[in-house]
Amino acid sequence: MGVTVAEGIDPRYYTDPEVFARELESIFAHTWQLVGHESQVGSPGQLITARVGNESVIVVNNGGVIGGFYNVCQHRGHELVAADAATMSSITCPYHAWSYGLDGRLLHARGEEVGELCVPKVQVDSMSGFLFVNLDMDAPSLEETVPGVAAELEAIAPDAAERKLTWRRTHLIHANWKVAVENYNECYHCPNVHKTFTAGVVTPGSYRIAPRGFTIHHTAQGPPPEQSAYTRQADTSEYGAFFTWPASSIQCYPGRVLNTFRWVPLAVDQTLLIREWWFDRTEPTPEQTEVIELDWDTTVSEDFDIMDSVQRGMASRGYQPGPLIVDPSGIAGVHAENAVPHLHGLLLDALGDQ
Ligand code: FES
Ligand SMILES: [Fe+2]
Repeated sequence: MGVTVAEGIDPRYYTDPEVFARELESIFAHTWQLVGHESQVGSPGQLITARVGNESVIVVNNGGVIGGFYNVCQHRGHELVAADAATMSSITCPYHAWSYGLDGRLLHARGEEVGELCVPKVQVDSMSGFLFVNLDMDAPSLEETVPGVAAELEAIAPDAAERKLTWRRTHLIHANWKVAVENYNECYHCPNVHKTFTAGVVTPGSYRIAPRGFTIHHTAQGPPPEQSAYTRQADTSEYGAFFTWPASSIQCYPGRVLNTFRWVPLAVDQTLLIREWWFDRTEPTPEQTEVIELDWDTTVSEDFDIMDSVQRGMASRGYQPGPLIVDPSGIAGVHAENAVPHLHGLLLDALGDQ
């Protein structure tokens, strides 16, 4: 296989707080972020909160209609809801007890007449049941942004829209969000770093990563069932992952095991990883716990020290942006990292730096 070589970007993009501030404005205020699933807000009054860039948002079922608004009281700015999830018929601010309807309109201000107020809205859209938020009310829909992805996801996980949150675990990565997202979107490191993944979850020779606009599609086949590292939930060996720029991915392990990644940028060198698993129930079976723990203890944890180390490298005087290995077909296997320069292109475009 012939390869070409692409150039990396200036490491300042990973270390400079000024770049990080521009990213929050130019990228995270105008793109779709995964925040949860329709099943979490299936009944009127159910709501979830999520962090989108440096904002907190509320996604709520208001009489059967799912909508979203900023999680900020219009009085003195306190967060309206602190919990990750709640059920309420109205929202009372914890600070001075002003009360809001589930459409974000102020209902009362402890009896004072303060005029009409409404919490600014955010856009909410869904993909096969998974909920995304965009702070930009004029942004194109999710389907326009990542066309075809919902259909591809449903082909591999037909019951995605019925899944429930079964498990959540978080980890603070001491690295820039792009270090994490680039790591996720290349399997060049998989044979070296992820022995369990490449032996018992997918067969490395079948792994393909295809960048396509604002999505990056991973596909692979799992090994035969007797070599699987976990008990498969269904008789299918297909693996697929659907990354949505800039920081969300829905993936399906062989056996229709659905799980998601959310990378929340906290600071130029800090990223919160939110890892969630979506089965047919809210409490995992022993078999479900097996795959969740196996994945966390091997594949996911194996990247933690790597990402922290790369962040230190980005700040080193001894680092120049290295050459990147690109498969000329446009699709990377485990010997190329095509998605990395693709992500750099999306970044530079969004920042207006190219
Ligand atoms: S800040 Fe919410 S009621 Fe005062
Ligand atoms: Fe990895």
